[in-house]
Amino acid sequence: MRWNGRVLSLLDQRLLPREETWVDCHNASEVADAIRTMVVRGAPAIGVSAAFGMAMAATRGDDLQQAADELKGARPTAVNLAWAVDRMLRTSGDLAAEAERMFNEDVAANMRLGRYGAELLGERATVLTHCNAGALATAGYGTALGVIRAAVESGKRISVFADETRPYLQGARLTAWELQRDNIETTLITDNMSGHFFKQGAFDAVIVGADRIAANGDAANKIGTYTLAVLAHAHDVPFYIAAPVSTIDPATPNGDAIPIEERSAQEVTDFFGARVAPEGIQVRHPAFDVTPARLITAIITDKGVLRPPYEEAIRNVFKT
Ligand code: MRU
Repeated sequence: MRWNGRVLSLLDQRLLPREETWVDCHNASEVADAIRTMVVRGAPAIGVSAAFGMAMAATRGDDLQQAADELKGARPTAVNLAWAVDRMLRTSGDLAAEAERMFNEDVAANMRLGRYGAELLGERATVLTHCNAGALATAGYGTALGVIRAAVESGKRISVFADETRPYLQGARLTAWELQRDNIETTLITDNMSGHFFKQGAFDAVIVGADRIAANGDAANKIGTYTLAVLAHAHDVPFYIAAPVSTIDPATPNGDAIPIEERSAQEVTDFFGARVAPEGIQVRHPAFDVTPARLITAIITDKGVLRPPYEEAIRNVFKT
């Protein structure tokens, strides 16, 4: 994302990697729309975008509470969105400066958690990731991909398997694009191939991002993440969540209390504008699932690596 002090420009993630088109947002409604329609996606990225939306509302003299409600209502699962908007509502000074601070803090948090996470990987490792928890999903650097980037920067030989991530293909379109640009060895697989590769012992670790981590460590992330956690557990492969502290919601007691966004049936029945399923078929499209804390080996945050029991580890993070 780019901010020129007046306009927020977002790289349209619906079109990548085929087209690099930027969408300009001039007010909070346009930002909310960009979040709803997935021009921008990924928990920290939608939080920081919403902060710029609030800054534009303040500059224009728009009703801040109305802007906040519209932005927060754009997507329900990622807590970073509400966290960022509430922080802007609490700001008494210059909202644009606060949004810029949030942008810089997110990049710094990712770099910090990247370094903590890199230490968990061996000198040579193959990592499976799901969805896109990279620079595109944050203000920059990435969470799960931040760990991979930091490990590569420290001289480790990391090879990545990226799940394509049906139905929105964040893995095939965005993670593959980002990692290829960084010259990080990447192999793309469809979601239903991971069990086969787990059985072959292909993975040393699974690293994914999160949209909301509850007070007990249960973590919501892109649909399909839970399946990987179960597979990792069955094959004795460490399963890591990488997320900034802004993704932890101490007010959500456990995973059952995390609202799961249900997206349109069309994203399931159609493939790039072409209908592939019969007309009239019933469809479900939960966009996220919840991985229970007991399946998570560690949560890599910008304040260090959290280990079970998470309830206590999370309480301590918010004490400091
Ligand atoms: O629907 P999306 O693409 O916004 O979902 C994104 C994810 O699930 C990411 O893994 C999560 O937001 C973490 S991004 C650092």
